[in-house]
Amino acid sequence: MAKVLVQHVCTECGTTSPRWLGKCPGCGAFGTLAEELHATDSRADAGRAKKPTPLGEVSASEGERISTGVPELDRVLGGGLVPASLVLVGGEPGVGKSTLLLTALGAISRAGRRALLVTGEESAAQVSLRAARLGGAGDVGILAETELDTVCATLEAERPDVCVIDSVQTLHASELGSAPGSVAQVREAAGRLLRVAKEAGVATVLVGHVTKDGAVAGPRVLEHLVDCVLQFEGDRHHEHRILRATKNRFGSTNELGVFEMTGAGLVGVADPSELFGSTHPGEIGAAVGCVLEGTRPLLLEIQALVSPTDLAMPRRVGTGVDPKRLAMIVAVLGRHAGVALGSADVFVNVAGGVRIEEPGADLAVALAITSAARGLPVGEGHAAFGEIGLTGRLRPASQSDRRIEECAKLGITTVIAAPGGQARTTPRVVGVETLRAALEAGLEGRAAAA
Ligand SMILES: Nc1ncnc2c1ncn2[C@@H]1O[C@H](COP(=O)(O)OP(=O)(O)OP(=O)(O)O)[C@@H](O)[C@H]1O
Ligand SMILES: [Mg+2]
Repeated sequence: MAKVLVQHVCTECGTTSPRWLGKCPGCGAFGTLAEELHATDSRADAGRAKKPTPLGEVSASEGERISTGVPELDRVLGGGLVPASLVLVGGEPGVGKSTLLLTALGAISRAGRRALLVTGEESAAQVSLRAARLGGAGDVGILAETELDTVCATLEAERPDVCVIDSVQTLHASELGSAPGSVAQVREAAGRLLRVAKEAGVATVLVGHVTKDGAVAGPRVLEHLVDCVLQFEGDRHHEHRILRATKNRFGSTNELGVFEMTGAGLVGVADPSELFGSTHPGEIGAAVGCVLEGTRPLLLEIQALVSPTDLAMPRRVGTGVDPKRLAMIVAVLGRHAGVALGSADVFVNVAGGVRIEEPGADLAVALAITSAARGLPVGEGHAAFGEIGLTGRLRPASQSDRRIEECAKLGITTVIAAPGGQARTTPRVVGVETLRAALEAGLEGRAAAA
């Protein structure tokens, strides 16, 4: 029997309070607490002691993963969907979440598994039009429904192998009184779907909206509940989209999938280094870095612009790089490599809308900035990787051999990196100890690190 209880929940962070407060005790935001009605379950056997089972006696078969038929999506998931798991896919409006998941459902049903799409945002007819454009998804079951109880009951009755809920914000449980998309509703929906996913063995993919600052909307508790959180990034005006796992209980995170949006849907880009990792010879302010995203090395073009400014606090603007990291690189360049940027704005951009989260890209960022500041191009066919320390010394990046391998594959002739790793001839590897030496080796014209 469900009991209904009034609580005040912060719409920003999900903190609950029994009474209304002007300031949220969790995140400090003002005026964000909203009244929610909570249903609490009181189970008959609650409170009774149970005997734990030794872990060795738990029978578990490593279930076969379900391939989504989209290789880039499989890679990000760590090799396919795990049966009975719950995956959350977040992304900005129009980035292509529905398109990607409908493509995957189509492929899953063609492979002989049962797929179900629950849509609360679009009508069945709209989905069917999209399916036709994507090359057909004839056997995918579709349910246009927003009532949580109905969705859960359908899942239990149908027991499909894979189910996509587009989106979790449109579902609502009527006993909770609050509007669909509110914190309590989203949490209730995710919690109930989690239970159904585990009990009925349905691999469930939830589509979630993101807030203005890019986090999946609803409380963070949603991210704790699910097994895997995927972020779909990239701006709508760009045809490339990046899919990234920010949490994965069954595989590595930071794994990256690259897609191209075309009229026939999202097409996986099998070799993104080829696409993003080249510069025009002789161009000033561009460098190629080799970053490791998950298990895959990736060559990326990094561009920088250094322009004189009268501002007391010059701007350091990075698209695709962490602003704190950028400020540090600029400071180390000034202090240890003689590249004074105190009266210049610095802009850095990473090709293809990729966001770099790995310090191994530091050296390429520093090279691009120095190239722009000095007006000297980076040597032709050069790539660089390495983490810059605060003392101006380079730290070796992880898995340098794999990165060098990737450089060799894409015709890079010279790699600048911290010393170490295997000796080899193609590409030529220049091992440098300090940032100053790296700049000297990387820029054309030896006056580089004057
Ligand atoms: N006929 C078409 N040709 C090319 N691209 C298209 C076509 N129709 C739609 N698109 C692309 O698909 C994108 C919308 O994809 P989709 O509806 O899957 O996004 P979404 O992430 O589900 O959005 P929402 O959050 O609003 O549901 C558009 O931004 C557009 O770029
Ligand atoms: Mg959609």
